[in-house]
Amino acid sequence: MSLTKLNRNHLRRVLLFLAQHWKASLGIILLMTIEVIFHIRSFTIPRPSTNLDPPFYTTCHDPSTMNSTARANATFMMLARNSDVSGAVQSVKSVQAQFNQHFGYPWVFLNDEEWSEEFKMEVGKAVGEGVSVTFDTIPWEVWGFPMWIDREKARRKMKKMEREGVMYAGEESYHHMCRFQSGFFYDHPALLPYKFYWRVEPDIRFTCAIPYDPFLSMSQHDKKYGYAIALWERGNTVPSLFRKISDYKARRHVRTTPLWTALMAPSYAPWLIRRFVLSLLRNRDGKGDLWNMCHLWSNFEIADMEFFRSSAYRELFRYLDEDGGFYYERWGDAAVHSLGVAMLLRPDEVHWFSDWGYVHGGLQVCPKEGLGCGCECEEGGREVETVCLDSIRRTVE
Ligand SMILES: *[C@@H]1O[C@H](CO)[C@@H](O)[C@H](O)[C@H]1NC(C)=O
Ligand SMILES: *[C@@H]1O[C@H](CO)[C@@H](O)[C@H](O)[C@H]1NC(C)=O
Repeated sequence: MSLTKLNRNHLRRVLLFLAQHWKASLGIILLMTIEVIFHIRSFTIPRPSTNLDPPFYTTCHDPSTMNSTARANATFMMLARNSDVSGAVQSVKSVQAQFNQHFGYPWVFLNDEEWSEEFKMEVGKAVGEGVSVTFDTIPWEVWGFPMWIDREKARRKMKKMEREGVMYAGEESYHHMCRFQSGFFYDHPALLPYKFYWRVEPDIRFTCAIPYDPFLSMSQHDKKYGYAIALWERGNTVPSLFRKISDYKARRHVRTTPLWTALMAPSYAPWLIRRFVLSLLRNRDGKGDLWNMCHLWSNFEIADMEFFRSSAYRELFRYLDEDGGFYYERWGDAAVHSLGVAMLLRPDEVHWFSDWGYVHGGLQVCPKEGLGCGCECEEGGREVETVCLDSIRRTVE
């Protein structure tokens, strides 16, 4: 008997059974459908009646009129290598010109090696006079394999990911960097004296004037985390991350925030299939629902480091670190920060800098008509699509 014939016989038998018990079958199908409808409705995000996160300013002004003596407890931070000197100079010049020449916040530069004289000189020159600059190194304890990582296995996995085209997965130091930026930077002695930090990477540009103090504004509006770009994470870098975090969340009974829900795509499958089949697939939680892969880019972020220093975030990081996914997979700090923020912060504690223009890695955001000051966005620069951002903004507007 051929396979198709066998299948056809099977199907015929099932249909016959259903026909004989059609009332019961119909009842079961109805119940399953109702369950799915309720399941999907449980992902509805309550829309607030007012915008919980408007831009801090919608009009432009001369920054010198904003230049009171009040300063926040804040610093810039750039992690770089000596070879990044020209990209670092470009970024520093942009930040200084668009913002910091009027405000004079300090800079901290971190490297896993000793800084070259050239870097210190060139970058120091770009920062300019009268601004405090610290060049520091990262202690080996937080830049290297922790003892519980099987290095052989890690290197094998890195090679494999590299062959599969997972970006940067073959570079050991990239893994160390992602781990440091996920969990240790806020305890670095050079950052410990500060509450807020603004992360700057080499080779970025801010394309609008920033005539106000975002640190003070965040502080005044009780914001803990600020971003400019939200977009899709590459699923192959973090196949098990979402499952691990959502298991952690479930075990700890952490209440689901609207932001967490906004990062998810509910499954339309019946419960049994969700629970026992789909939940085995990557980027899904234990109930079979999907992370929509939306995350906040962390190469620019302004954060209240007390958030990262909280026991809730520290415990989350420790759990992820012990899992080993920073090495056996290629978990990025953007995904870790985003899921941490979504799990632990209220939507109104997160700020979108909708009035800023920002360019990184060939992608740019440019403010909408009516927002932003003196913007000079890149002609023909690739604009970030807004589907992911829109899904997040449902939580606040
Ligand atoms: C703003 O304040 C800083 C420090 O208080 C000062 O060095 C700078 O000259 C001022 N800039 C302007 C444009 O007023
Ligand atoms: C700035 O913040 C840090 C970390 O919260 C704190 O230790 C320090 O005392 C603060 N400095 C000032 C001047 O408030």
